[in-house]
Amino acid sequence: MTAQFGSRLDGADLRTTLRGDPITRERYWSREFMQREWDRLWTRIWHIGGMMRDLEETGDYVMHTLGRESIIMVRQEDGSVKAFYNACLHRGNRLVQAEVGGAPTLTCSYHGWRWAPDGTLLSAQDPEDFAGGNPCGKLKLVEIPCAVWGGFVWFNMDPNCVSLQDYLGPVADLLAPYGMEDMVRVMYLTAEVDCNWKIIRDNFNESYHLPTLHPELATFINDDYTDTVFELLPNGHARMLMKGMEPSARSPDADKILPPLDDMMRQWDLDPKDFEGRTKEIRRAVQLQKRKLGPARGYRHYEKLSDDQLTDYHHYTLFPNLTFTMSADGYQVLRTEPHPTDPEKCIFDHWFLMHPVEGVTEVDVPIGRVPFVQAERVRFKHGDATLGFVADQDLSVAETQQQGLHSRGYTGGVLTGQEGRIQRFHELLDDWLEGRVTL
Ligand code: FES
Ligand SMILES: [Fe+2]
Repeated sequence: MTAQFGSRLDGADLRTTLRGDPITRERYWSREFMQREWDRLWTRIWHIGGMMRDLEETGDYVMHTLGRESIIMVRQEDGSVKAFYNACLHRGNRLVQAEVGGAPTLTCSYHGWRWAPDGTLLSAQDPEDFAGGNPCGKLKLVEIPCAVWGGFVWFNMDPNCVSLQDYLGPVADLLAPYGMEDMVRVMYLTAEVDCNWKIIRDNFNESYHLPTLHPELATFINDDYTDTVFELLPNGHARMLMKGMEPSARSPDADKILPPLDDMMRQWDLDPKDFEGRTKEIRRAVQLQKRKLGPARGYRHYEKLSDDQLTDYHHYTLFPNLTFTMSADGYQVLRTEPHPTDPEKCIFDHWFLMHPVEGVTEVDVPIGRVPFVQAERVRFKHGDATLGFVADQDLSVAETQQQGLHSRGYTGGVLTGQEGRIQRFHELLDDWLEGRVTL
């Protein structure tokens, strides 16, 4: 059911690869379905656990909470990283509460047992008082698969999982030109949202909503589906290539240069007046200007990017819960994770990552202008703060859709061809939950 890499799939091509499994309503609220997702999906796939930038010294760690589980990833003496369940083997206390930290040993706050970075128990109070003898040097925290890619440390709770490289497949090579491993996370937002995690994934698996939910983007992103490339990649991943610096072909203002496109042109020393009536030529002109002026302005990473990558938005959707929206000047991570107990809530992360550029101390991100530093995590309930106006627009319908799905008047979706990736996502999910996936 997976198309060949590099193939261009429009709605009709995609439809021929689909089975037409019903997208049942219950999957968005059933506790039984949520439990199956935990047992058969979340505990078997690769997850981003944290940033390698936070793991500079031996003993530095990052901790990630996923559902009811918590994982610690610790930098080793040889520079590698090991991942462990965040549970002390004495009586189960969580060893680490901070999301980022570092110490020569992990010391449990309950009875003071001390663990080495490689997970070995170093010391315990009253070591002679154990029926089986002194456990120090023998007991080890439970280790799980761990890998590094893209500037992130990843973990997988399945001891028999495929390698991260195999899981990513061609995605790793396709993203390599962006140099993700050198970037800094300058925006780090996490919101709890009152909808099932799949509502948000469905949204990121289609661009059909752009004219209604994001009309502002039509002035500088060509969201017309006939101009957009949709590609299916192995293991359920996909990408969507959308032209930037070009008004939407389906907009009545397709021949006009409207804000912010005019400012975006001036930023590269192009005069909008020179392009009146020739909006289709702007994108190429900006590519040439970025190529010419970029390196001298400190944008050294441009040299690895193709002309298209200099202006366009390449959205990578990694099955099941990650989206990377790549642009020449930075990328967004849009991640959706399950709530620990409630199928009608989820945890939504929105990050922005950028290359350091000499002399640049402040940068524009989806929530405005911020200092160019590694951001602290900001957590809130959806609605209490902004996630950036585009993400706010996306999430503005998430909770009302969750409510509408409960209605007896809704019995299943009627999808357009260009929404085929939603159908594919749910069929892949069914494959995982029904044991049909052999990675
Ligand atoms: S639970 Fe950790 S030392 Fe007792
Ligand atoms: Fe959107």
